[in-house]
Amino acid sequence: MNDEPILSVRDLEISYRTGKRTEVTAASDINFDLYPGESMALVGESGCGKTTLGLGLLKLLPRLGRVPRGTVTYRRKDGSRSDIMKLGKEELRRFRWSEAAMVFQGAMNAFNPVQRIADHFEDTLRDHANGQKRWSTADIKRRSEELLDLVRLEPDRVLRSYPHELSGGMKQRTLIALALALEPQLLVLDEPTTALDLLTQRSIVEQLHELRERLGFSMIFITHDLGLAAELADRVSTMYAGRIIESGTAEDIFYNPRHPYTAGLIKAVLPVAGDLPELESIPGTPPNLANLPPGCAFAPRCGYATSECSDEIPALTRIEGSNGNPPHTAACLHSDQVEFSRQVVSRV
Ligand SMILES: Nc1ncnc2c1ncn2[C@@H]1O[C@H](COP(=O)(O)OP(=O)(O)O)[C@@H](O)[C@H]1O
Ligand code: SF4
Ligand SMILES: [Mg+2]
Repeated sequence: MNDEPILSVRDLEISYRTGKRTEVTAASDINFDLYPGESMALVGESGCGKTTLGLGLLKLLPRLGRVPRGTVTYRRKDGSRSDIMKLGKEELRRFRWSEAAMVFQGAMNAFNPVQRIADHFEDTLRDHANGQKRWSTADIKRRSEELLDLVRLEPDRVLRSYPHELSGGMKQRTLIALALALEPQLLVLDEPTTALDLLTQRSIVEQLHELRERLGFSMIFITHDLGLAAELADRVSTMYAGRIIESGTAEDIFYNPRHPYTAGLIKAVLPVAGDLPELESIPGTPPNLANLPPGCAFAPRCGYATSECSDEIPALTRIEGSNGNPPHTAACLHSDQVEFSRQVVSRV
């Protein structure tokens, strides 16, 4: 990509207060650039810090969360730049929705059950109109219809409905339409298809693809499901214990993972065609962030671990991307030994 990044994250750290004097670091040493129109997936098991990072990037952390260090430089539609971490309340209000929008994890259950969908659109458009545009009732109707059309829902029927009258897939599409209401440049989606059946997942993923091509927004797609990441992302970053431990093009990550954790996640993805392989799950669970093992946090679960792995936290090191792909990085002392041969077919 030849343009300037829309988002540049440097040395970002995020922590949560857990007691009067105690804190847990839920994301650290986060560095990446996101380019216009680019789609990046953040993958990893539950508890690895994906939601924390997604919320932190847009300064949406819950009350006990804070950002002790780091910058998130964002380039606005007008070309001006600022560090999102330094924006005040009013600046953030103007920034969200019209520059960057987020579909939260579990948001499908957060519709107001006593409001029709039309009211949700009206509230969103009026509350986040950026002070520049006053929406008339006719404008709101037209824009709501246009947005629902974009996600291939039948506007009349959906606008009249209460949330419980819509299926899970329809609710998720409606949320995506709402997030696009003010034409953001950046869309952050946190597990948007979890809890939906496979066919619905597939159709939502296809639709996100299509919308991104048509509207040109950049996307950060958070998922524990590598199959979905394979479908949607140009670039994939794996998170473990609050760190990005591998990053590269979707192609490099899926066909040549260099971190044993990423390789383990891929081996646990069910292919849609061909012989059923023996699925291998990674033994154990992610560590408690308040009590991390020394050195590489993955060591207790890693089949390649040696005593050196516990000496210090491995740095992300550059590996040549295949086929002239941009750089691929992995934080593993023995990345050259990781064996991975299975051709992976996405499961959606
Ligand atoms: N609101 C919170 N208060 C305190 N700690 C939290 C909070 N949310 C998340 N954490 C901590 O951050 C870790 C990562 O959580 P999260 O970002 O939700 O991971 P993921 O989205 O990958 O499942 C959790 O294991 C927990 O230790
Ligand atoms: S650094 Fe060591 S423990 Fe960590 S992933 Fe690599 S081989 Fe495994
Ligand atoms: Mg999460």
